[in-house]
Amino acid sequence: MTGPILPVVVLDDAEQAVPLGVALRAGGINTVEITLRTAAGLDGIRRARQVDGLRVGAGSVLTPQHVDQVAEAGAQFVVCPGLSVAVVERARERGLDVLPGVATPSELMAAVALGLDEVKLFPAGLLGGPAYIEALSAPFPGMRFVPSGGVSQKTLPDYLGLASVRTVSGSWMVARNLLAEEDWAEVTALSAEAVTLARDLR
Ligand code: 3PG
Repeated sequence: MTGPILPVVVLDDAEQAVPLGVALRAGGINTVEITLRTAAGLDGIRRARQVDGLRVGAGSVLTPQHVDQVAEAGAQFVVCPGLSVAVVERARERGLDVLPGVATPSELMAAVALGLDEVKLFPAGLLGGPAYIEALSAPFPGMRFVPSGGVSQKTLPDYLGLASVRTVSGSWMVARNLLAEEDWAEVTALSAEAVTLARDLR
């Protein structure tokens, strides 16, 4: 992943993709994951590609067919909640970076077998948070983790303080109430706070 913060977006209105992307960029964030959880997701990906300097990924990608759809919409990478060999292979065929999710050592072994060196850890908070990543890192020394699920501004430093974590993922700076109110200034402010916190930790 590029950048320390990966916002996870659930869009109800695809027309918000551009102002949202601009607001993230203004806060110093250069990567976004737009999920397929809503009908607006695919069109949101297509529109977000218009934002200068923004790397746009698709989230909640569950099947090879989803990979084809998001590739055609212009997605530059794919994020999944779990590990599917078929999805990883299709993403590679389509030339897309892929960040599959894992929750257990066995899934990490499957990720290693696929030649992956970075995975999403989901749902990070419920699985045990930073202490769980520390425990997993011992037998998987080359693996990088992108914690997702329950990460907040408050817990961000605990995750980014780990050597195996370069990026955290979360929705707090793009929360659904902010999108409902189109509060782009707050999106920018929360993004800038997260980026500053991350920078201070490096
Ligand atoms: C998700 O599945 O929505 C992401 O992991 C983000 O989780 P969060 O909303 O708890 O930040």
